[in-house]
Amino acid sequence: MRLEAAKSAYRRYANVYDALFGPVLQAGRKAVMQALQVRRGDRVLEVGVGTGLSLPLYPPDVRVTGIDVSGEMLAKARARVQRERLRNVDALLEMDAQAMSFADGSFDKVVAMYVISVVAHPERLLAELRRVCRPGGEIFIVNHVRSDNRAIAAVEKALARFSDQLGFHPDFELRQLAPGTAVLDEISRINFFWKVLRLRPLAGETGTAPG
Ligand SMILES: C[S@@+](CC[C@H](N)C(=O)[O-])C[C@H]1O[C@@H](n2cnc3c(N)ncnc32)[C@H](O)[C@@H]1O
Repeated sequence: MRLEAAKSAYRRYANVYDALFGPVLQAGRKAVMQALQVRRGDRVLEVGVGTGLSLPLYPPDVRVTGIDVSGEMLAKARARVQRERLRNVDALLEMDAQAMSFADGSFDKVVAMYVISVVAHPERLLAELRRVCRPGGEIFIVNHVRSDNRAIAAVEKALARFSDQLGFHPDFELRQLAPGTAVLDEISRINFFWKVLRLRPLAGETGTAPG
């Protein structure tokens, strides 16, 4: 989904996002928190942080930075930080996750929940996640992947032309994720639609975004 289309879709969603996608996507957020295994002081980056539904789930002794392209979604996240007095959130920044301004290796853990199949260039996003993750760090992803069931996959493919309206690509292909540069583990399957994945960049492989 092009940047402007994403901004426009999530501008429309911002006021209703928590009601529509709060409880229904919460299992994936909780599964990532369990898998994270953070240490005191760890620097965590969450890309596509949205309205910040995950923010209250992070342990209080880590430092969290969130980014999103939607100013409207971020406004909700900032209000949540204030309302819930979340002192572990360092910054919520408007930024494209496909071209981040952070230095290489800035974060111990990087989290991308329900966002990879939303962006126009998932391979650039993944390269950026690897670049900003420190050597030995870990990247956690919750994403929809194209169904192995042929009938469902056919429906997903048919829906793909409406990606801009839906706000994500229904036929996202898992094999795009880590072509030879990282170890990809499936941590858990939330349901037939959503999976939690962990990506550990291979030694010497920093993300270099393809042109
Ligand atoms: C489906 S929502 C997920 C929000 C949140 N992670 C959650 O668990 O509810 C996708 C989010 O990704 C954001 N987004 C889309 N494209 C982006 C990009 N290129 N860079 C950063 N955020 C992006 C959208 O604005 C939206 O807030």
